[in-house]
Amino acid sequence: MSSDSSPVYLDHAATTPMRPEAIAAMTEELGQLGNPSSLHAAGRRARRVVEESREQLAEVFGARPSEIVFTSGGTEADNLAVKGMYWARREHGARREHGARRSDARRRVVTTSVEHHAILDSVRWLAEAQEAEAVWLDPGADGLVQPDALRAVIAQAPEQVTVVSVMWANNEVGAVQPVSELAAVAHEYGVPFHTDAVQAAAQLPVDFAASGADALTVTGHKLGGPVGVGALILARGAAPVPVLHGGGQERDIRSGTLDTPAIRAFAVAAEACARKRADETERVTSLRDDLIRQVLAAVPDAVLNGPPPGPARLPGNAHFSFPGCEGDALLMLLDANGIACSTGSACTAGVAEPSHVLLAMGADDARARGSLRFSLGHTSTSRDVDALGLVLRDAVDRARRAAAAR
Ligand SMILES: Cc1ncc(COP(=O)(O)O)c(C=O)c1O
Repeated sequence: MSSDSSPVYLDHAATTPMRPEAIAAMTEELGQLGNPSSLHAAGRRARRVVEESREQLAEVFGARPSEIVFTSGGTEADNLAVKGMYWARREHGARREHGARRSDARRRVVTTSVEHHAILDSVRWLAEAQEAEAVWLDPGADGLVQPDALRAVIAQAPEQVTVVSVMWANNEVGAVQPVSELAAVAHEYGVPFHTDAVQAAAQLPVDFAASGADALTVTGHKLGGPVGVGALILARGAAPVPVLHGGGQERDIRSGTLDTPAIRAFAVAAEACARKRADETERVTSLRDDLIRQVLAAVPDAVLNGPPPGPARLPGNAHFSFPGCEGDALLMLLDANGIACSTGSACTAGVAEPSHVLLAMGADDARARGSLRFSLGHTSTSRDVDALGLVLRDAVDRARRAAAAR
């Protein structure tokens, strides 16, 4: 953050400030007229902007322009990938008609227990309402999923698996999965592979073709673009059944009038993000390592969750458990000191849930509840890190007293 009185923002994984070039592009485009599907001059102008943006995004993400399907963000792209690919590959009817058991049909969806809710709840819904059989892969204590574990699960009955979905990088603990190895395992058995690269795309080079994935989710607002726009990158031949029906936009895979200003700004932000990545990664990694040092100096019994700093951890992610604290209470105490961070876990109807990610990594309920995520991004500075270091000890002491008094 720039000025000394501004709040300290350590929640870039939730959303990161829009980049100035993206704001400028979007503002300019908001003043323009035209539906990209219209045939007249105004429509053709808007279409040109959309197609140039598609090309720019394809270049950034190592894809072909025709592989980019615009959506309203990461949640929609995840829903389209997992539901659409399940529906496209599910097999039913024939096997049952010939007397085979229902479980012989192809209806398995393989995913991990540490996915974002956009995948987690889509898969749960497919299991509850669409006869899918969900198979959950658990990570190790570091949050990483092993390719051999995926192989063992698929090999049990490869013909029954419709789709595999494993996130590229975890939004809570920053674990970076071995995506291309996982995709290769799925392909050994002819199973399509989807990855949610929402968190990875902001901080790591994400190359769709090199990853081997058949489908990949990205979103605008984690990389300095606007909220409400994203894309599912879809390899040729991957043909999910649409979730939205309507005007047939985006090759009939995702109907709905395209949001030209948001698409333009998304592309501009992604390009800026890619262009500045090498310098930014080094800068943010060093800030993150300093943050870890300062947190452990202030609270020596804090536990860093997720992989150790290195290639298996997102550069901007630091996630800790603070023994004896409730994460929510600590978050509010830090907020009162002008520091914004996150528990990283879901809050259902106002009731704090322990993080499903930490529980899947083997943490007990208390450790899962007593955790906070600090995430850094393109506007972070050492002032943000130092500000946390200054107030953390006192906030933890207070949160511990509050928890003990309950
Ligand atoms: C890993 C991951 N997937 C999906 C999403 C959802 O993306 P959106 O906010 O664009 O719907 C998020 C947002 O936090 C995320 O972190």
